[in-house]
Amino acid sequence: MTTISANGIDISYREAGKGRPLVFLHAFPLNQTMWDEQIAVFSEVHRVVSFDWRGFGGSTLDSKPSTMDVFADDLAALLDALSIERASICGLSMGGYAAFGFQSRHTKRLASLILADTRATGDSEEGRQNRRQMATTVREAGPKAIADQMLTRLLGSKTLEGNPAVAARVRAMIESNESEGIARALLGMADRPDSTPLLGKIECPTLIVVGSDDTLTPPSESEAMAASIAGSRLVIILDAGHLANLERPEQFNQALAGFLSSL
Ligand code: MLT
Repeated sequence: MTTISANGIDISYREAGKGRPLVFLHAFPLNQTMWDEQIAVFSEVHRVVSFDWRGFGGSTLDSKPSTMDVFADDLAALLDALSIERASICGLSMGGYAAFGFQSRHTKRLASLILADTRATGDSEEGRQNRRQMATTVREAGPKAIADQMLTRLLGSKTLEGNPAVAARVRAMIESNESEGIARALLGMADRPDSTPLLGKIECPTLIVVGSDDTLTPPSESEAMAASIAGSRLVIILDAGHLANLERPEQFNQALAGFLSSL
């Protein structure tokens, strides 16, 4: 990983390969290594970039809150620093929430959009309260205190039962993060707007991918996005939960490759 200064913070990122830029946005509360299987495959045909959101992995925080708009501006500043004008953006879950921020603030820089295991809708009031409570817990007791609860929500039952290596990897990612970065992202997600009104304005080619067993952002949310984004395509990854790219990397990569080669 390399570190670069952008938008007032140090951003830890990596890039590989040559070709049309493809940028991966990681989920909460993980880091960019969740994309290892995609970086390995897509760097053969694309200039791929992944990075850690502010407060995660090797990226720092400043005084700004970790809202999805600030995340989107961090991404734009990173692209500036790498001299990338336009890119395909692939965001999973919180990465997708930030991709909506990018779509609304930096529309012209989007070559195509991949929305994976995410949703356009905002949180319910109860959901917001839960996030605020979780932010307090993580600040008081550290990331370990939320890892068990998160694991059962992030991974599908087939992965939890049959793939302990993936579960261990996800747990390690969660526990390697700093409490403050996690807490600020929770507050940022709680404050994010409903992006449903944006969907009809998306003009770039869009792929929507979701695990069939995703309970956090269920397939019904993806179906609703697909119905509202003109010309979008939807792929459901069988036997995957919320982290479809980690749980079924081959199927995920196949869906992504099919989409990218059609552009
Ligand atoms: C994520 O996977 O990024 C988050 O769990 C999404 C969320 O909590 O809404």
